[in-house]
Amino acid sequence: MKFLKENQNTERYVDSIFSVVRAAKADPEGINATAGCLYDEEGKLLTYKCVFEAEKKITAAQKASYASSPAGNNDYIEAVSSFVLDNRVSNNFGAIASPGGTGAISLAVENCLTEGDTILFPEISWGNYKVIASDNNLKALTYDMYDLNNLFEKIDSISGKLFLVVNSPCENPTGYAYSLEEWKSIFNKLNNLNREVILLCDIAYIDYATGDPKNYFSLFNEISDNVLVILAASCSKAFSYYGQRLGLMIAIHNDPEFIDLFINLCSRKARATWSNLNNAAMINIATVLNEHEEEYLNELSEAKNMLKKRSELFIRQADECGLEYYKFCDGFFVTLKMKDNFSRDSLHQKLLNDHIYTIKVNKGIRIGLCSLPLKTVDGLAQKIKEIM
Ligand SMILES: Cc1ncc(COP(=O)(O)O)c(C=O)c1O
Repeated sequence: MKFLKENQNTERYVDSIFSVVRAAKADPEGINATAGCLYDEEGKLLTYKCVFEAEKKITAAQKASYASSPAGNNDYIEAVSSFVLDNRVSNNFGAIASPGGTGAISLAVENCLTEGDTILFPEISWGNYKVIASDNNLKALTYDMYDLNNLFEKIDSISGKLFLVVNSPCENPTGYAYSLEEWKSIFNKLNNLNREVILLCDIAYIDYATGDPKNYFSLFNEISDNVLVILAASCSKAFSYYGQRLGLMIAIHNDPEFIDLFINLCSRKARATWSNLNNAAMINIATVLNEHEEEYLNELSEAKNMLKKRSELFIRQADECGLEYYKFCDGFFVTLKMKDNFSRDSLHQKLLNDHIYTIKVNKGIRIGLCSLPLKTVDGLAQKIKEIM
């Protein structure tokens, strides 16, 4: 193709979510379950007070200034790494700041995979994995995340390097999470493979999971030398700071020299791609974690409870009326189970006709409980069941 680099993927990029989001916003009477951000019970985007109070103290010069390095500001990296790892990882690790969780995933993919390699991710998952795969000319292979045997078969079907994406807990779009037992089986499989394994744990929503969602981090301390674990964390979700574009990539491996080399490679890639991140936002998140952590954790806990009430109500009412959904544990979304994409399209359209705006996903319909006040969630499952 003229002007473009060789093998450029010229398939037209269409953001399929955008049109339904726009329609939802234009319909004030409608139920807008399309959002991917957390909203409060008044229907406004939820913001954490401590985050925006701290932001007021940031000076114009700090806002105008470049960050201290392409890898991000050290105090940000240290504060977010220790918040994410929660003293659970004794293995060697290194970290680099990224533009959101998306930037962390891209860094991992671009530094570990070559055109034609395979990336393995869940069959029902965040649509952007597919976009990242196609943008990097990778083969996209999917697995059924509810069936570990299926995952293991898919792993065995890939010869050569394995790049596995797991989005747990609070999977987007199903809300599924692997139990510690499931994680142990996964690590048992990966540690005993005779080839390189990159396990990308997309933990974008981990702060909204109940129970002890980081219990499996201890398994990072017992990985074999063939395994590289990469965590992709997102400040968009954790701090409700979506537009500030901050995240963190943390790489964990037995060999500290490799970690050093890998973070250095990622720093060069960052320099060559976005060059520098949002300095003021990094200063702010570091300040929140270093000086206002307790306030933040209290606000986070309130947000988590608010979300949990919504999901408990929806799930209870869905069970009462027999509305089928994919197994859900926690998180922003619940996904209705559809037998194929034809029935999905038909239900999605019927819901639109009834002013219920949802997102189509592979073999399912995503309901963004994150954006629906409890009073709107109440009765929604029955309403959908009747429309069906
Ligand atoms: C599963 C998943 N991973 C990662 C992200 C990354 O988000 P961001 O780049 O805004 O941090 C998202 C955002 O919607 C997501 O749903």
